[in-house]
Amino acid sequence: MAKTVAQAIADLTARFAAVDSGSARLDARVLTAHALGRDTDQLFSRAELPLPPGAEAALEGFAARRLAFEPVSRIIGRREFWSMDFVLTRDTLDPRPDTETLVAAVLAVREAYPAPRLLDLGTGTGCILLAILKDWPTGTGIGVDLNPGAVNVAADNAQRLGLASRAAFHVGNWCAGLGEKFDLIVTNPPYIADGELENLAPGMTRFDPRVALSGGRDGLAAFRALLPEAHRYLRENGRIFLEIGAGQAETVSGLLAASGFRPTGEHADLAGFVRCLEAVPA
Ligand SMILES: C[S@@+](CC[C@H](N)C(=O)[O-])C[C@H]1O[C@@H](n2cnc3c(N)ncnc32)[C@H](O)[C@@H]1O
Repeated sequence: MAKTVAQAIADLTARFAAVDSGSARLDARVLTAHALGRDTDQLFSRAELPLPPGAEAALEGFAARRLAFEPVSRIIGRREFWSMDFVLTRDTLDPRPDTETLVAAVLAVREAYPAPRLLDLGTGTGCILLAILKDWPTGTGIGVDLNPGAVNVAADNAQRLGLASRAAFHVGNWCAGLGEKFDLIVTNPPYIADGELENLAPGMTRFDPRVALSGGRDGLAAFRALLPEAHRYLRENGRIFLEIGAGQAETVSGLLAASGFRPTGEHADLAGFVRCLEAVPA
């Protein structure tokens, strides 16, 4: 006899809990809803209904992926960021909650820029630029990524979120070929040292594109490449906001200074690590 939806959720919760997962029940609910093509808030009313055979097979596939440490967001192809729903694919980083630190830091300077032009370097899903534009209705901007697949995803996200009229996305190598200067440059570049990448837990990195994570031997290669370019593309009264890795504040502040910037602020994430640096042209 087919399992009911409630039984499927209970069984899956037990299987996930057995291999660790602090979020076993939530994961089980989200994946069951996804297998059913429903939202999680529609599960309760279906709890005692049998799981259709197609959904059961799909759910078993999702369970196997989750048990191999794939994040739920990757399996369902969606991630909530800044209370917005972003589609992600194998071409994009799965947006991390820590990156909301950078979004909040940028929105704190709203008063100083009535109609800002923004540049988001290494845009991925477009989450940073689109989150900022959602809460800053007079802003417009461009997101750039080396990966054409990511650029397509970002453009689709802009469309779905109703922000396509204020956001454009281009394939590019950091600032190369951009034909204008910007009020605000924002970036969450790849900043993990290659040696460290191998040591992180599988769910942390294995499912993200390497080009989105790898910062070379010391993790700083992208900062070295993009900061001098960003300096040339920033307006005189502009500002740059960078996401950085834990423990990189001092070194990246040095790279900012060496590229013609004056560091003006540090912003900590919820764990207390400096996660975002802010700077102006010196
Ligand atoms: C850490 S991910 C950030 C993605 C997204 N902004 C976010 O915060 O979720 C870094 C991004 O930089 C892109 N990237 C790497 N090297 C690049 C380059 N030389 N020029 C432009 N983008 C690059 C990667 O493809 C990836 O999407």
